[in-house]
Amino acid sequence: MTHISWFQNKHVVLGVTGGIACYKACELARELGRRGAVVQVVMTEAATAFVSALTFQALTGREVKLSMLDPKAETGMGHIELARWADLILVAPCTANTMAQLAQGSAPDLLTTLWTASACEKAIAPAMNQQMWKHPQTQANLGRLINVAQVLGPDSGIQACGDVGSGRMSEALDIADTLEATLNRGPLAGTRVVITAGPTYEPLDPVRYLANRSSGKMGFALAETANRLGGAVTLITGPVHLETPAGVNRIDVETANEMHAAVHSVLDGVDLFIGAAAVCDTRPANISDQKLKKSKDNLSQIALVENPDVIQSVATSPNRPTLVIGFAAETESVLEHARQKLTTKSLDAVIANCVAGGEIFGQNDTQVTVVCHDNDHALVAGTKSEVSTEILAILSRRLPKRI
Ligand code: C5P
Repeated sequence: MTHISWFQNKHVVLGVTGGIACYKACELARELGRRGAVVQVVMTEAATAFVSALTFQALTGREVKLSMLDPKAETGMGHIELARWADLILVAPCTANTMAQLAQGSAPDLLTTLWTASACEKAIAPAMNQQMWKHPQTQANLGRLINVAQVLGPDSGIQACGDVGSGRMSEALDIADTLEATLNRGPLAGTRVVITAGPTYEPLDPVRYLANRSSGKMGFALAETANRLGGAVTLITGPVHLETPAGVNRIDVETANEMHAAVHSVLDGVDLFIGAAAVCDTRPANISDQKLKKSKDNLSQIALVENPDVIQSVATSPNRPTLVIGFAAETESVLEHARQKLTTKSLDAVIANCVAGGEIFGQNDTQVTVVCHDNDHALVAGTKSEVSTEILAILSRRLPKRI
């Protein structure tokens, strides 16, 4: 079978910013073209001091874009057209200054405007002096950018300025190979994912139980999406009326204790754990062998004991997954409660949604905020499947690549 490159017929905006590594961008433009991409180079003004636009034009067969105001664009809004056209925006080399602008969402030129205006795949190949790379502000900008883009490199070695250290732009071939592999195989390729879903049922007697309104749809949507993005997914679910997503390994449980045991039995080597289950916090202290009889006393006789906190036990376990992500379904002060859970349960992120009035339960649509220690990502409303894709895109960027 002939290998078809991910780049085949893909529209790639290659953003070139001002640094000596610009010469490597020439190689990169050629390499992407060789793999079948239609490459549109966008240069910052500083970049043109290192390599001429004509060089890129000759390499890509397309006129290089240099300015925001493009009178040739049909609608006079060239940046929006290009932002929609692009399947991938790759900024290589990406200077410390451009990293700062991208991290801040500031858009003083065409390239940074495109970046903020486009929802396509994004990647940067940083290139700068090793001291600039180490600078705390650059590292803080990097922390922000890894949430929205794939960061390729930088490599270490002798730099153009004579320094030795980290900051050299990765080689063109390595950049193309890494992008190809990740884009082709999905951002969760090679990762093991465990997701809990649904309610738990806590029996009172052989016919009655305590439970909640969780439908399991969010957890199932996450499992389906994680599988589609290349993850090896185990879904541990309480009682729900949902089909198992294709390719997902499903374990059915009923009670919180069973969920706890099932989760710990599969925890070895897990990269990403998402607790989407609405686990009952408590269970009846005693389960009657016989059906409880109607009596006034029974109403006040149901003693409850605490259930294990499944996600907290995962987050504090010796074989803790790299990322442990919880949910916070709240009826009020949603973000505040989410932040509390983030710390009290030792989580890496909490997906917060407002369930006031119970309107999210059982619905196909939802709206969430991903609350992390460093920043929050507010996601617009969408189907649970669309929201899952956004959530997993954010989380996958926080996972080490497994390819
Ligand atoms: O404390 P609260 O139930 O609001 O926390 C919600 C988060 O904790 C969800 O991710 C849920 O799956 C998880 N959880 C759990 N075990 C419990 C209670 C909640 O894993 N007993």
